[in-house]
Amino acid sequence: MIIGNAGQGGGKRETTAAVSVERVSKEFGAGTYAFRALDDVSVEIASNEFFTLLGPSGCGKTTLLRLIAGFETPTGGDIRLAGERIVDLPPFRRPINTVFQSYALFPHMSVRQNIAFGLEMQRRPKAEIARTVDEMLALVKMEAMADRTINQISGGQQQRVALARALAPKPLVLLLDEPLSALDLQLRKDMQVELKRLQTETGITFIFVTHDQEEALTMSDRIAVMKDGRILQLGSPVEIYERPQTRFVASFIGEINLLDAKLSIGRNGKPSAKLGQGQSIALSDTDGRADGEGLLLAIRPESLSVGPATKAGAKGKITNIVYRGTDTIYHLLLDGQELRVRHQNRSRTSKVFGIGDIVGWSVEPESVAILEDG
Ligand SMILES: Nc1ncnc2c1ncn2[C@@H]1O[C@H](COP(=O)(O)OP(=O)(O)OP(=O)(O)O)[C@@H](O)[C@H]1O
Ligand SMILES: [Mg+2]
Repeated sequence: MIIGNAGQGGGKRETTAAVSVERVSKEFGAGTYAFRALDDVSVEIASNEFFTLLGPSGCGKTTLLRLIAGFETPTGGDIRLAGERIVDLPPFRRPINTVFQSYALFPHMSVRQNIAFGLEMQRRPKAEIARTVDEMLALVKMEAMADRTINQISGGQQQRVALARALAPKPLVLLLDEPLSALDLQLRKDMQVELKRLQTETGITFIFVTHDQEEALTMSDRIAVMKDGRILQLGSPVEIYERPQTRFVASFIGEINLLDAKLSIGRNGKPSAKLGQGQSIALSDTDGRADGEGLLLAIRPESLSVGPATKAGAKGKITNIVYRGTDTIYHLLLDGQELRVRHQNRSRTSKVFGIGDIVGWSVEPESVAILEDG
């Protein structure tokens, strides 16, 4: 647990990136035992941004947070905070705080004492400490429990105290390493909303780590999807979800259909993807590909719709139907490739198809992503 030294560089908040990670690498061990946990990572995180690192276990998320916090030194590259180099500063000199997965609260101290701890370490005036602690208690809605010890409050309440303690010194940047993973689903959902509110109200830059894609999509301004020590894709939740660039990003986040196709540029210059046996779907652009080139397409199940088969349109045979209350998933087979279509069950009178039916399917060109590593 580190309580940051808040209040530095505040004047630069609006103009400079809060955190710049510049070509950072981190190797653990040496020689044949060397392991590259981060490989040439660059990213600029804006002030007041809710920024999320998302990726599978071992991809380097915690390592990147630890480098920003100062618990590790990069093997190569640089890290700046509000424009100033920080790699040579010890953790306590950085206006950065961390909330760890295990909240590391002091069990026998009261909620109030826990929140005051960092401010006391900084020898802030007593009146200021009291005022800030009251402010933080209100922020996390724990006023009524201020004098209980940590042993006397629930897991979710402890989570709120850990946040209040980290926020109290008003750091420029708050690092959160899977802070919600110990909570049950309902509490986790409540805390997601709560965290987002805290970030908006305080204006502090949040760098949040998770391997839960839904959590990342609902909370973040931007998401960096990581794999094997690299950032594979960086973008808004909408960009990451709707325009994945690689097979990994497409499949890591939500359900998706992957289809092999061939690019065909019509006489009118309009691109389409040929799926074999004369079936084709329109594309919004060629992504710089040439006529006849092989493509790997990614399409979300909810972007597809089914309807009666038409002569000219794309067709498929229904091989399975999964009813899920709010929607129905149709499994279509087309030329050896499978396609899953999510159909929202709007009314009971909507056309119902059966297994074995040949149906038509369609998708808007904008909802078809061409993957780079196809
Ligand atoms: N001190 C260390 N010495 C050697 N290897 C390490 C060290 N710390 C981390 N690693 C390795 O670096 C890689 C990245 O680890 P890191 O903790 O950053 O992963 P993560 O993305 O946070 O994963 P998780 O989701 O499981 O927490 C892992 O393969 C890990 O084993
Ligand atoms: Mg980790």
